[in-house]
Amino acid sequence: MQIFFPSEIGLCFGIKRALQLTNKELNRGKKVYLWGDLVHNPQIMKDLKEKGAKVVFSLSRIKEGTLVTRSHGADPHLIKEAKLRGLKVVDTTCPYVQRVHKVAKKLSEDSYKVVIIGLKSHPEVKGVIAGIEKAFVVKDPQEAEKIPPMRKMGVIVQTTETLDNFKNIVKNLVEKVEECKVFNTICKVIRERQKATELLAKKVEAMIVVGGYNSSNTQKLAKLCQSLKVKTYFIEKDEDLKVEEWKNFEKIGITGGTSTPFEVIERTKRKLLSMIGEKGV
Ligand code: F3S
Repeated sequence: MQIFFPSEIGLCFGIKRALQLTNKELNRGKKVYLWGDLVHNPQIMKDLKEKGAKVVFSLSRIKEGTLVTRSHGADPHLIKEAKLRGLKVVDTTCPYVQRVHKVAKKLSEDSYKVVIIGLKSHPEVKGVIAGIEKAFVVKDPQEAEKIPPMRKMGVIVQTTETLDNFKNIVKNLVEKVEECKVFNTICKVIRERQKATELLAKKVEAMIVVGGYNSSNTQKLAKLCQSLKVKTYFIEKDEDLKVEEWKNFEKIGITGGTSTPFEVIERTKRKLLSMIGEKGV
């Protein structure tokens, strides 16, 4: 059996940066509060909690310490409130997400109705909406049909969205407006990861997608592989690999989301090899 990785794998620079900033605070021995899961990955979250970080969803009981916000952005009102309470704020918002905030704000100031392509429930989208007056959120072409006609529309997209979904939605939206500004704010790292995964999925018989079940970009990699009709297994950790028909496959690909550490991918590979009784390839 041969096991392949895509050319793009491991943590993205935005997550690495968020972890460096958080670990720096933890090493200072101060109380560190994370606003929700810093990263959508169970292994990373376990490690941060073991080092003393606490996940919170409310500031009401916090008297001192550092509040760390997510790489996928935060509500600007939250940051303001934390500072008013005397807390130190470490904002780990990734530069790609900062760009989405900036573009949304500018569009709104210039009287464009903002449409965000993405998921209403995703922290990034919530953070962007909180920073502007009003926005429509659409997740698929069907939802785009329901957007009312308007004069000036500004379209942005969640950094983890797929290019295909973005293009299909934009096609429907432009029919509804006199003037439309479209910004492709999909993260470059995500686009490259999707491309590399697609290339790999086309040359293997099975794909194992590793990452947090709550990680938007990992979910999308799994969907992408499924859409290419390759047998796809979506797991969070090596222990999730079940005794399957691995011996029936000659070529298997392993990929992971941008929040999946490379060690977790390597552990998955070792587990797979041990399940089929091979030592290495
Ligand atoms: Fe930033 Fe893209 Fe990673 S938005 S956090 S570099 S997935």
